[in-house]
Amino acid sequence: MDADAARGRVLLEESRESVVVLDADDRVVAASRRARQSVAGLVEGKQLPEGLLSGEAGVVPLIVPYDMNGRRERLVYLTSGGDLAAYEELRTGFTAAVSHELRTPLARLLSLLDTATLPGEDVLELVDRARAEVEQIRELIDEVLFLSELESGTRVVALGAVPVRQELETVVAELEERASRAGVALVVEGDPSLELAIRPRMIRVVAQNLAENAIRYAGPGATFTLAVERDGDAIVLRGTDDGVGVEEAQLTRLFERFFRADRARASRGTGLGLAIVKHVVTQAGGTIEALGGLGAGVEIRATFPAA
Ligand SMILES: Nc1ncnc2c1ncn2[C@@H]1O[C@H](COP(=O)(O)OP(=O)(O)OP(=O)(O)O)[C@@H](O)[C@H]1O
Ligand SMILES: [Mg+2]
Repeated sequence: MDADAARGRVLLEESRESVVVLDADDRVVAASRRARQSVAGLVEGKQLPEGLLSGEAGVVPLIVPYDMNGRRERLVYLTSGGDLAAYEELRTGFTAAVSHELRTPLARLLSLLDTATLPGEDVLELVDRARAEVEQIRELIDEVLFLSELESGTRVVALGAVPVRQELETVVAELEERASRAGVALVVEGDPSLELAIRPRMIRVVAQNLAENAIRYAGPGATFTLAVERDGDAIVLRGTDDGVGVEEAQLTRLFERFFRADRARASRGTGLGLAIVKHVVTQAGGTIEALGGLGAGVEIRATFPAA
């Protein structure tokens, strides 16, 4: 196989769509992994299963004919209509939400700059506030990029097992100063030998988001505990605080993108942290839940099959 053909093969194989190449007699020349996994009866060298091209069985094929050294071939995307619509909706919704979230700090930035040109204003203070707005915009952009990196399938899972507790300690050490300024105590618990098959960076992303939330929202006097523990066959990674908590009805919504429990609170969050945490946990084969209630603190529990 020459380099071009090999590259074409990899591109097709790794496509995130169900896509196949057909020859002039509707025989499957090649298929993406996704297509082989999701289309019953698909075999390379054999005829494409009945009905797929005619749009039956909920599949809306997108057909791209081309010429290959005089041979007629077709590239056929076998995406079901529902999938595509749901995906499009998700994407449009997300783009709209990101734009909205960017507009708010940008509007404040603009008004700060306008004020700075007026005579007698404290320009240094305005510059400081403008800097804070820019920081927030940068944070949002970083989070959106990280989330899309995760969604495009960046590896979350480690090849081997990773001891969890030492990552939790790294995160806590980095946040200690901010926590003490907020009056929140940070504690790490757990057997140092407990391991998970998640990349160390991803363990830190999870731990850091949970700890930052406690520092930001739990309130002075609260204690936040990051723990790794065994629960039957599973390993649980949890962040628990005894702070102000959120209303019980909002617990399941915490993982939604851009959700903030109390918009009136002078919180500076973008509402993406827990959506990212959920992504990391589910991509690593785990499940996640939020417990607690108003005045009863928040506990975020991620449960993984033992490594
Ligand atoms: N420990 C907690 N105590 C009270 N409320 C919390 C706690 N953790 C999260 N929340 C609420 O859940 C919301 C969503 O949290 P999430 O981490 O997803 O976003 P964020 O902190 O607002 O922004 P980001 O993490 O993207 O900077 C927060 O805005 C806050 O209202
Ligand atoms: Mg957060």
